Amino acid sequence: MKILVLNGPNLNLLGLREPAIYGSQNYAALEAYIRQAAEEAGCQVEIFQSNHEGALVDKIQAAYGVFDGIVINPAAYTHTSVAILDALKAVSLPAVEVHLSDVDAREPFRQLSYAGMACEKTYKGLGFAGYREAIFYLARKSADKA
Ligand code: DQA
Repeated sequence: MKILVLNGPNLNLLGLREPAIYGSQNYAALEAYIRQAAEEAGCQVEIFQSNHEGALVDKIQAAYGVFDGIVINPAAYTHTSVAILDALKAVSLPAVEVHLSDVDAREPFRQLSYAGMACEKTYKGLGFAGYREAIFYLARKSADKA
């Protein structure tokens, strides 16, 4: 199974960025964590991070026919982007939303997720482990179908 992991704006600044909320590990550590989880789940993985909404939309569109599932942390675009929601709906691949922090316990504006409306599951507040849960969810789902 091939999984595309998408990370939105400012996640490249992990470690530097509000460590009390997002932790002290950097983005390279997150990538290494995701690769390890994918290997354990027996999945191939591509990881893409962008600070640009359109680049994330392009990547979702290009996933059609290439990937079997998407794990997405749209970061701030979670709460604003109908374009990302529409792209996820358009390709209709199984998608799982991840947030490092527990968005429900933060500011009210973080409690609306557009992307989440096109996702089968959301893992929030688990730190890096949310990505692992998402990858294993997609792997299990694909194994159940086989
Ligand atoms: C985030 C939560 C978002 O509200 C925020 O804008 C982010 C990161 C998270 O992983 O907890 O950039 O998606």
